[in-house]
Formats: sequence, structure tokens, C-alpha cells
Amino acid sequence: MNKSKWNQEPHLYEELKKYSCKNFYPFHMPGHKRQLSVGPAVHFPNPYALDITEIEGFDNLHHAEGIIRDSMEWAASVYGADKTYYLVNGSSSGILSAVSSIAGKSGAILMSRNCHKAVYHGVFLNQMKSRYVYPQFMGEYGVQCGLSPCKIEKMLKRFQDISAVFVVSPTYDGIVSDIGAIGKICHTHGIPLIVDEAHGAHFRYSDVFPVSALDLGADVVIQSVHKTLPCFTQSAILHIRSGYVDRERIERFLQIYQSSSPSYILMAGIEQGIRWMEGDGRERMKEFSRELVTIRQELKGMRHLRLLGKNVVGTRDIYDLDISKIIVSVRGTNISGVHLCEKLRLKYGLELEMCTEDYVTAITTVMDTKEGLRRLRDGLMEIDAGLVGNEDDDAGQGSGDCEKRWELELEQVMTVYEAWEGEKEQAVLEECEGKISGEFVYLYPPGIPVVVPGERITKKVLEEILQYRRLGLPVQGLKDRKNRIMEVVRNG
Ligand SMILES: Cc1ncc(COP(=O)(O)O)c(C=O)c1O
Repeated sequence: MNKSKWNQEPHLYEELKKYSCKNFYPFHMPGHKRQLSVGPAVHFPNPYALDITEIEGFDNLHHAEGIIRDSMEWAASVYGADKTYYLVNGSSSGILSAVSSIAGKSGAILMSRNCHKAVYHGVFLNQMKSRYVYPQFMGEYGVQCGLSPCKIEKMLKRFQDISAVFVVSPTYDGIVSDIGAIGKICHTHGIPLIVDEAHGAHFRYSDVFPVSALDLGADVVIQSVHKTLPCFTQSAILHIRSGYVDRERIERFLQIYQSSSPSYILMAGIEQGIRWMEGDGRERMKEFSRELVTIRQELKGMRHLRLLGKNVVGTRDIYDLDISKIIVSVRGTNISGVHLCEKLRLKYGLELEMCTEDYVTAITTVMDTKEGLRRLRDGLMEIDAGLVGNEDDDAGQGSGDCEKRWELELEQVMTVYEAWEGEKEQAVLEECEGKISGEFVYLYPPGIPVVVPGERITKKVLEEILQYRRLGLPVQGLKDRKNRIMEVVRNG
């Protein structure tokens, strides 16, 4: 370790302060978009003034029987849940708790393969078997699509050891699956449906958005209020509908996976965020959704870049689309997603949520201003005007093979636990074809594993990881931070 480094002043705080004064506009989380003059922030005092611990009269999240219980009961009544819990460790803590609640060590879970890494962590911690249902893939955009209720039903008939189904809907890209149909199938088999609706806490506030999984029969629904509502980072909620889940087991695991000093600022922030949405936020939501629809309509006029639109609904198991996610495909153009993000940042001062090789994602929320949305539209339209189509694609970036790993099911040789905890050896990444992975590989964001421990590495998936590395995309999960070496199962 370089000793002189420690003589420097740390500067995280200073950098955040400096950044907050710049004119960058956030098309990323958190959903409050750092708006101070509108929304719950207006009356929120300096957070230091509210920061307490479990003192007399202020209840305890882990044993709620007073002011916090009342607040969570109110939230349940707003969302129409039988029970709602405030989460201070993000949706991740709700996901871990829900997964842990459903099975002992010998249980199996049927999950969509495009789940967030937190679901895999739950599988790992509980030494569970995971069975996967793969979403379809949309080559033109490079995004994963919906989940087939039929495939889920077939899996449930084939494997009798499945004790719950876990799906992500909407996906990071706003793709919604047919939760009503999937829920019915689960219930016919006497098991619960758990839905990661981390990106859907806003659904109930406008009919331009899809219907929430909670209203469609899901048994546990987990939502990151910090992603799409005006709430602080890390705040989330977990809803339960009684009947198929063991509430007490979920509560037990919420205590295990969450801090024993839950932040009152985060909890009060959840309450204030929801209260505002139920009050003044409704009017603002109407204005926002009108503006969003208009902007999207205008973006359809782009000649080269393509906006993922509602026309995909009804295809490839896509049941609905959350239009607040602005997904712009660069396929067939002479720019990659990474470069598009860079241009938007450097020339237009717009910071997006995510860029991949094939597309970029802008998260919009009720807290976006008309000015901000128009800046995004203008930036995209201007960049689009200077692009050329596929025929002139000299760099070859962004066009790529339409067939991708999501159409390929990786062979599961071992459970996540067996592979991640078992004996491993190191291999140069380029030489890993045919080996069994001992580590996760994912891009962050979105945190969906490309390879899961226990899966056999194919040529295609390896090529894809190497391509991510070449493009400088945020490949994570490997112990080797330089992404050159992979841990694989010894003699696998
Ligand atoms: C689909 C999905 N589920 C779960 C999570 C985890 O949510 P949190 O960051 O609130 O823990 C994320 C995070 O980005 C996500 O994208």
C-alpha cells in the first residue's frame, strides 16, 4: 500500500458537494433527482436534526408496535397489501429475506435467469437449488424480454421440488411479464410467487404505467422506492399478500439481513415520499406523464437511434412496458451505447443510468422537470442527426450479432453454493471455455449475472465477456479486479 496516499485528505464529501453545484442532469437513481424546491425535500429538515436511534416513543423496526408499525400499516393500506415492511437496506435485503423464507437447504426455487444478483445471493446463502426460466431476447434492441407463463408451468410440472417462483418484473429495462397468469399457475401448484418489482414502486400512481404485481396476485412484492419515487437511496418496501407465504419467517429474515440500527431518516423518507405521492405528487405525476408521452412521441422521429416503445407489447412474452424507462438502441448505427452515454454527458451534461454495447437507459421519474426531459430529447435528436446507419458503420460498434447469450441456456453442473464455496483453481479468462465457473460475472449495472457459479462456460458467453472487457463496460464479480483471471471449479 502506498503510504503517502494516506497523508492525503479524503475527498468524497468535497467531490459530492462540488458535483451537486454542477449543471449535470440526472437520468439515474435516486428517484428524487436531487430536487430541493419541489416534493418531499421542501419540508425535510437537515437530516442531522432527525437522526435518532430507538429511543422512548419511537418504536423499533425489528419489533414494531408503535409509530413505525402505524406508518407501515398506513403504507400497506395505500398500496393495498396485507402487510408492508419498510426496508433500509434496499430491495436487496427484501429479496434475501423473501428467498430465505421459502425453503430449507433442500428446497429449490424456480427463478427467471435475468434476476438481480441479490436473488442468487439468497440462493447461495440458503444452499438452495436454483432452476431457471429464461426470458426471450430481442435482438434488434439487445434487451431481454418477458417470461413465458407456459414455460413456468412446464417447469413446475417437471420438477416437484420447487417451493416458490421468483421473477423480476419490470426488468431494469421496463419489461413487464404476465404476472396475473404466472401467479395463477403458482397458486394451482400451491406455491407463492415472489416478484422483484424494484423498478415499479411508481406503477400505482398513473395509468400510463403497468399494473403493479401486487394487484395481479403476487404474494410478495419488493419495490425500491429510492429508484423511482422521491425517496432516499437504500430505502425500499416489501409487501405481502397473505395466503401462500410464511409472514413470520420473512420477518425473521428481515431482522437478520437488515441493520440493527435502522435509519430513522430513511424510514421517515419512505413515509414522506409516499405521503407526497398520495397528495401533491398526484398532480405532478399527471404533468410528468403527459410530458413523458409527448417526449417519447418526439423521440420516435429519430432516424438512426431507436426508442423502445409500446409496440413490443404482445411480442416475445412482453405483457407491458414501463414507459418511464427511456431505452434507446444504437444497433445498426455507427455509435456504441458507451459512446452515446459519453456524448450525452460531455456535450449535454446528461448523466444516464446505464449504457451497454447495444443501448442506453435513462430513468425518468415524477421529479423530472420539463426542462430536463427536453434536454434529453434535444441531446438525443441532435446526436441522432449526426449519425449514419448500419451501411456506413465503419467502427462496427453497436451492430453485433443478434443472437446473444440469453437465447442460450448455460448448463448448470453444480449449485451456486457448491461451486462458489468448493475447491477452485485459476484460469486465464480466454482459456475458460468448457470449464465450470467458480465465480459470478456480471455487468454492474444492471447486476444480472452473465455467468453464475456452477455453470459451464460456453464459447459464446466467453466471447461476450471478452467483448464487454474490450469495450470497457463495468464487468464485475471476478476476484481479479483486472478481469484477466477467473476462478473455476477444480477438475470441473
Ligand atoms: C431488478 C433489480 N432488483 C433488485 C435490485 C436491488 O435493489 P436495491 O439497490 O434497492 O438493493 C436492483 C438494483 O439495481 C435491481 O435492478
